[in-house]
Amino acid sequence: MAIKFSTPTQNARILSVGAYRPPRVVPNSELVERIDSSDEWIQQRTGIQTRHWAAEDESVTDMAVKASRIAIERAGLTPQDIDTIIFATITYPYQTPSASTEVALQLEIKNAAAFDVGAACAGFSYSLGLANDMLRSGSAKYVLVIGAEKISDFLDLDDRATSFIFADGAGAVVVGPSDEVRIGATLSGSDVENRDAIAMIPSWTAYKPGSAITETAWPVIHQEGQKVFRWAVYEIAKVGKEVIASSGLTPADIAAFIPHQANERIIDSLAKSMDLPDSVVIARDIRTTGNTSAASIPLAMDALLAEHPELHGKNALLIGFGAGLVYAGQVVELPPQPK
Ligand SMILES: CC(C)(COP(=O)(O)OP(=O)(O)OC[C@H]1O[C@@H](n2cnc3c(N)ncnc32)[C@H](O)[C@@H]1OP(=O)(O)O)[C@@H](O)C(=O)NCCC(=O)NCCS
Repeated sequence: MAIKFSTPTQNARILSVGAYRPPRVVPNSELVERIDSSDEWIQQRTGIQTRHWAAEDESVTDMAVKASRIAIERAGLTPQDIDTIIFATITYPYQTPSASTEVALQLEIKNAAAFDVGAACAGFSYSLGLANDMLRSGSAKYVLVIGAEKISDFLDLDDRATSFIFADGAGAVVVGPSDEVRIGATLSGSDVENRDAIAMIPSWTAYKPGSAITETAWPVIHQEGQKVFRWAVYEIAKVGKEVIASSGLTPADIAAFIPHQANERIIDSLAKSMDLPDSVVIARDIRTTGNTSAASIPLAMDALLAEHPELHGKNALLIGFGAGLVYAGQVVELPPQPK
């Protein structure tokens, strides 16, 4: 007997975006002393002026719930309409149960499919691709895609390569049915030879990912800054070009570029290498938000739409890249202006 695939296929779109930034603003001046740096050096090398850090008693899921409520309301839905929750994060401190189930509990979403995605700074783009594919295969109708991080819990404030880069926040989008294709195919991949270039490791040892943990120690994030920088600049530009072409578009069809907010010099270099026309509005949320890993693209999307309401409904290129090293990108139509 042949297996039947009975769910109807449907196109998908981003219906809405919501964001939450914790109130505490941390300027560079608060961090420089411990790493023998300066506000000027940090701004020149990364573009970062300030970032937000969550309060001690504010969890990554608390922030995610706040961003999700806004996204769901802007979509004109209630939490009970959500049938799938995908939560991209690397800073939820429990292996199980998942962060997505905690969001379901707090928002009183019943019976939803719920799972977490661990693809670091590419996590949001991976998750958005999954949401799109789930709608296209008929296995979901309204998907809440969350990117949220509390990286301040995993920072070594004496580390000159990371302490000033990473930050906290949450972003969420609701993906739902669409009459036309409004999310292009996701291109994703990895460069595992550089797997150790960014890693969250116990601070006291040269722990190698994959080996047994014999003692417990709180992990902190480490990175080989130059290696990551070179990889991002050379490899991700190629990915971006391919993403645009695979959506049947040219750079002239793109209105906004919303890459992972890793470093403003990487953002500028990518835009140049991909020959994006000057008319493309580039997200530079990094300046006041820092690098929030999986949260950075939805946070940057929300900020860009607030600053440029004319971009609602226009095409944007999204690309996430980071620890793994992994990447994922897609062209999307930005959500319509909330009613
Ligand atoms: C982290 C990063 C800003 C460091 O900048 P860099 O130019 O590569 O720094 P280097 O380690 O090569 O050091 C260059 C010089 O700056 C100094 N330096 C390094 N860190 C410093 C700091 N935090 N403050 C001040 N000076 C610093 C070094 O001592 C060195 O000085 P020297 O030339 O006198 O020897 C940069 O590598 C980077 O942004 N990488 C990408 C990181 C990223 O985006 N990660 C997330 C990906 S998801």
